[in-house]
Amino acid sequence: MNYNHADYQEYEDERTISYFNAVRDNNHTVHIGSAWIIIIDRDRTIKTVELNKENMTIGKKGDIEIISAIVSKIHGRFLKKDGEYYYKDEGSLNGSELNGIQICNPLERASGLYCLGDGDVIRIMVPGDPANPENVLIIYTKQPVANAKWKYIDLNKQNGVLEIGRNVRGYGLFIDSMQASKHHARIVRSGTNYTIIDENSLNGVSVNGNLIQGYHTLSNFDVVGIANTKIIYLDGYIVFNVAPKGVKLEVRDISKVVPGVKHPILNHVTLTVNPCELVAVIGGSGAGKTTFVNCINGYEPATEGQVLLDGLDIIKNYKRLKSRIGNVPQSDELYDYLTVYDFLLFTAKLRLTTDVSSDERINRVNTVLEIMGLKEHQKKLIKKLSGGQKKRVSIAMELVSDPDIFFLDEPTSGLDPETETLLMKQLKSLSVNFSKTIIVITHTLQNIHLFDKIIFLAPGGKLCYYGTPATAIKFFEVRTISEAYEKVKNNIEYFVDKYSKYSRGELA
Ligand SMILES: Nc1ncnc2c1ncn2[C@@H]1O[C@H](COP(=O)(O)OP(=O)(O)OP(=O)(O)O)[C@@H](O)[C@H]1O
Ligand SMILES: [Mg+2]
Repeated sequence: MNYNHADYQEYEDERTISYFNAVRDNNHTVHIGSAWIIIIDRDRTIKTVELNKENMTIGKKGDIEIISAIVSKIHGRFLKKDGEYYYKDEGSLNGSELNGIQICNPLERASGLYCLGDGDVIRIMVPGDPANPENVLIIYTKQPVANAKWKYIDLNKQNGVLEIGRNVRGYGLFIDSMQASKHHARIVRSGTNYTIIDENSLNGVSVNGNLIQGYHTLSNFDVVGIANTKIIYLDGYIVFNVAPKGVKLEVRDISKVVPGVKHPILNHVTLTVNPCELVAVIGGSGAGKTTFVNCINGYEPATEGQVLLDGLDIIKNYKRLKSRIGNVPQSDELYDYLTVYDFLLFTAKLRLTTDVSSDERINRVNTVLEIMGLKEHQKKLIKKLSGGQKKRVSIAMELVSDPDIFFLDEPTSGLDPETETLLMKQLKSLSVNFSKTIIVITHTLQNIHLFDKIIFLAPGGKLCYYGTPATAIKFFEVRTISEAYEKVKNNIEYFVDKYSKYSRGELA
């Protein structure tokens, strides 16, 4: 299933080569902490700019100049905080869209800080005028551009038809994901326009964050989403991200109120989990960890607020997004009297799209056994497995359909410390080596250093910290994170307030 770079050589016309070689990195080094933006403005040239300062403005007079009549002098700002980049609209006239959603409050004409993930798309548009030549597109990327994976296809060279799917080779756009159908969609020319047609794909096609019904005529800078791939339409070309990684989860001001309980059990939680991050949800018993995770994984919607997966509302699009989500509940739901292998093959039959062949299913099961270190146990009955092995089968079961994001509720409860460490390391490896975004509720902290971020919830489902474990120590002014539990219990409002200031950038 590996992407073969040679498939795309034919598309690398002169424009592609000169634009995408702007940043060349032959060693395929990943520059930790570095980020770039790719700008397409009125010139229709592609400019790649490294975000090499912690605070950079964009606009006609910005640190990064944008050539367009519709952009304000200082239009927006990129800020780096705690290792992440954020974007903020600076009260511009025409506002900014992030992944198809206008982020400016029309009254205040400004936006809050939006945490950016690899492949996020910012558009500056004249409202209601998608064809305006002054419109501007900005792609945020964490990967050196030549290495990575933004490519061009000239639609005019394809006789006006471009096939898109999992089974496309040679001409066409191959999508390397089990979420894509074999023949997922096609782009066809109709007069001077191009239209994208959903070919009855299982998981659908979105344009600017909304699933299309059947077909959609493309306007410049439309952002098409198919499985894990973003495709941007521009003047008869498409620009697309060949092998994007992971999925971004945005939680926007969610609360949960239940009948008969006076106070909310989840209270105005806002945070963004970036692709491929391993995140722990911690806090005392009854704080609201399970409630929170069930709201963000689509199981039981919050009563207020919104949860977006790669820009799509998880509740509105649950049927389509379900296959991108892996849920591992606290108690394993396995069949005792099947072998590990048979159980996973059975899962593959149930969960993979109907156009997956039996060979593909067997390959997938073998890959998953390998990833989860279960090869040597594959012939055992599930009944005979240890607790840690059973938990690995539960994760493997979800992994069969290759979801982009995993939610696990206390996967290590009841495991001895050594088995726990092994499982946590396996989760870390899934996030780093297999590009999964992973959210884990945990009570034990011995492996907390493996996590990229921690979400600390206080009783009443209140968010009192979200960030790296190292910064948490400073934030709570403690020596170890376990000390923070006691401190939070006695000062809930203090830490909720402190975190709220911290997240707005008001604390140093
Ligand atoms: N449907 C419901 N109706 C009433 N109260 C609820 C409901 N669901 C959860 N709660 C209450 O909300 C609070 C948070 O529960 P939740 O299960 O999310 O906590 P938790 O942090 O996961 O705890 P634990 O660590 O013990 O698993 C608890 O006080 C619980 O009793
Ligand atoms: Mg719980």
